[in-house]
Amino acid sequence: MANRGGFSSKLGFIMAAAGSAVGLGNLWGFPFEVGAGGGAAFVVVYLIFCFILCLPVMITEIAIGRKTQLNPVGAFKALGHKNWSIVGYMGLFCGVIILSFYNVVAGWAFGYFIEMLLGNFEIGQNFSSFTSNVIKVGGYATIFMFSTAFIVSKGISGGIEKAAKILMPTLILIILSLTAYAFTLDHAFEGVKFYLVPDFSKITFPVIYNALGQAFFSLSLGMGALITYGSYVGKNDNIVTSAALITLTDVGIAFIAGLMMFPFVAYLTNGTMEGAGQGAGLIFTVLPGVFQSLGSTLGVIIGSLFFLLLSFAALTSTVSLLEVPVAYVVDEHKVRRSKAVWMVAILIFIIGVPSLLSNGASDFWSSFITYFGAESATDFMSFAQHVANDSLLPLGGFLISIFAAYAWKKHNLIEEITQGNDSFKGSVIAKFIDIAISFICPAILGTLFVLTVLSRFFGITLIG
Ligand code: TRP
Repeated sequence: MANRGGFSSKLGFIMAAAGSAVGLGNLWGFPFEVGAGGGAAFVVVYLIFCFILCLPVMITEIAIGRKTQLNPVGAFKALGHKNWSIVGYMGLFCGVIILSFYNVVAGWAFGYFIEMLLGNFEIGQNFSSFTSNVIKVGGYATIFMFSTAFIVSKGISGGIEKAAKILMPTLILIILSLTAYAFTLDHAFEGVKFYLVPDFSKITFPVIYNALGQAFFSLSLGMGALITYGSYVGKNDNIVTSAALITLTDVGIAFIAGLMMFPFVAYLTNGTMEGAGQGAGLIFTVLPGVFQSLGSTLGVIIGSLFFLLLSFAALTSTVSLLEVPVAYVVDEHKVRRSKAVWMVAILIFIIGVPSLLSNGASDFWSSFITYFGAESATDFMSFAQHVANDSLLPLGGFLISIFAAYAWKKHNLIEEITQGNDSFKGSVIAKFIDIAISFICPAILGTLFVLTVLSRFFGITLIG
């Protein structure tokens, strides 16, 4: 087999995988799902999903990758009947869709970084004219895809790992400084209270499926990104501790993002928190106003740091999304990495054009589809998110669990995890992963997948 490259150390892998996990989902999505979903009550549901459902799936994905040292399509083919490669293809499809819209939002983040540097705080009020400016956003999205492709073209240790080792510590430094700063603002405490006071009456079924979709998306699970990263992991690495550290980092940063964000909103609204439940768009509409009120010098510094943070977080995630189809083309079609990278990147950019047009630039893409029983139309980018994040990722998690437990077989999974973790076999954790992968994950993920699809696209709610 050709030399595929690999991570240079366990830490390098953890950084890269945590970099994949920590992204717009943490900074853009999580805080507002919490705000809208009952504060701490949502956090409890979310944590249960992360550690009971997602962690076993994450361990399984990494184990499948490390065992086969292949991309998802090749990996399912190698360990099971060749029909299982369909799950790999589904993951590939899902990853391509996610990257196609994610890159557009990353382009917004990067564009805002530039605008903040230039002191253009009015951009917050002009968000919709910004997103419908195809030339501008298209340009920023091009720069973003180009940077992503550049990193991936440098390979695993020289590209992905190296970028993560620079970007992740910087990101943590920026987010901690901004959080510390946010705490010094007036009304900070009201913001934190809004964020964290539990309200269990808000836990309805949509909140539960949002929590599940959010958990899968935030941890980069369900489409084989971690199968791919796992394929570059050394046999002596401990998969269980790595996965636990990746999950803790991801959850930790999402949590801190809320501690940073809500004091900002509280400051702007004088503690009334009006509009704070309005959704993830807040980052792009409200925050520039906050930065403006800090005065021109401080505003430029804090504002540009914030959007730089967002761009860095997005970059280590787009890198992991691009690596999946690239690994597929390299392994299965024997194409040189550098060539595969540029081919795939250009293709995904083109697939992203409808998303680029779906936030005001084109009426067709901006009101693309009306679900059964829905009152208003959904734009293409949101539609893609509903299909990929909320439906295909949990479905992927369901199929990956079934595959590992019943096609590849549990004892092989346990065997692989035991490599680099001698005391694993026979331990309590092994028992838990066994039960989770063969019963808990398939049952819950399968049920939630069906309920989510019925409720999201057909307006049929069986529960809640
Ligand atoms: N986890 C990233 C975020 O929170 C996004 C992401 C990167 C992703 N790779 C993925 C999501 C693979 C699903 C699957 O922003």
